[in-house]
Amino acid sequence: NKRSNCSDNSSGIMVTCICSPALGEKWTASVVKSLEAVVGSCVVLPCSFNYPGTLLPTSRLRGIWHRIKKDEEIVYSEDNTRVLDSFKGRTNMIGKLGDKNCTLEITDVKDHDNGPFCFRIELVKTHDNKETTEKYSFVGECAQLKMRKDPPEPELFQSNTAVQGKPYSVTCSVHHTCPSHVPVFTWSRGSKDDIIHIQKPILSGIWETQSIMVFIPEENDDHTEITCTATFNGGKVTSRSIQLNVKRIGNIYHIIIPVTVAIGMAVIFGVICIAVMEKYKNRIAELQSREGSMFNRLSRMSRR
Ligand SMILES: *[C@@H]1O[C@H](CO)[C@@H](O)[C@H](O)[C@H]1NC(C)=O
Repeated sequence: NKRSNCSDNSSGIMVTCICSPALGEKWTASVVKSLEAVVGSCVVLPCSFNYPGTLLPTSRLRGIWHRIKKDEEIVYSEDNTRVLDSFKGRTNMIGKLGDKNCTLEITDVKDHDNGPFCFRIELVKTHDNKETTEKYSFVGECAQLKMRKDPPEPELFQSNTAVQGKPYSVTCSVHHTCPSHVPVFTWSRGSKDDIIHIQKPILSGIWETQSIMVFIPEENDDHTEITCTATFNGGKVTSRSIQLNVKRIGNIYHIIIPVTVAIGMAVIFGVICIAVMEKYKNRIAELQSREGSMFNRLSRMSRR
């Protein structure tokens, strides 16, 4: 909106935009218009807004969330008495209004919380000791919730091949819409020290929580199941399992050991053969020389 305001019009407005961006702003809000929410869990509606005039601190701003077309049906207000009974204690402004952040959290989501909900801002200004309030409802930017009875199942990813005795990782991941109370993962094996948690935004309002478990598989882990369980805020639980296939290092030793032994035996046998032959060579030579001398003597005798 800000950009179109600056570029659509004459260069005069462009200059105003560049010189003082705080002035010349319009009443605008940006909310995620549609988001899934799990009944019984929590949901965070991302929201930011803008208003004309100078920047005001949080103490001079009042943020309200109300039902679309029903200004009086307030689902969030700082003043709890103005909030509908069915929403009392379940809504929370987690965005800082002073930062133009109107992000709303709804906890213990009910089936009928589908909305749409719209944001209203009230600016409290003082002029000559007189307090004036400027109000603006952003009815064109409202958030609707799509209710889910059950949370989604986690997804499991394994690193290539599990090899006995070598570190191996399994990643469990789930999408959710409540970054203020993320799902908690538990694993059917391994200790807490083996687990890494990661949070990352996927799309506006949608988050992914990952749990990565690194462990060293042993021979007896082959063909065992590994289960990842995600517990969502509010207590709903989903899980998924995979089977581990552990490649045994023993398989390689089964080949290496006999081959090594066979080669060793052959070498030893060869050495013995050579040694024996060396010994016999001497004897044979000895015998031959003895025979030779005997023959010489005999031949001499016969000549005589
Ligand atoms: C608004 O506030 C929420 C909650 O504190 C925060 O997660 C989010 O990043 C803020 N948004 C912006 C645009 O700063």
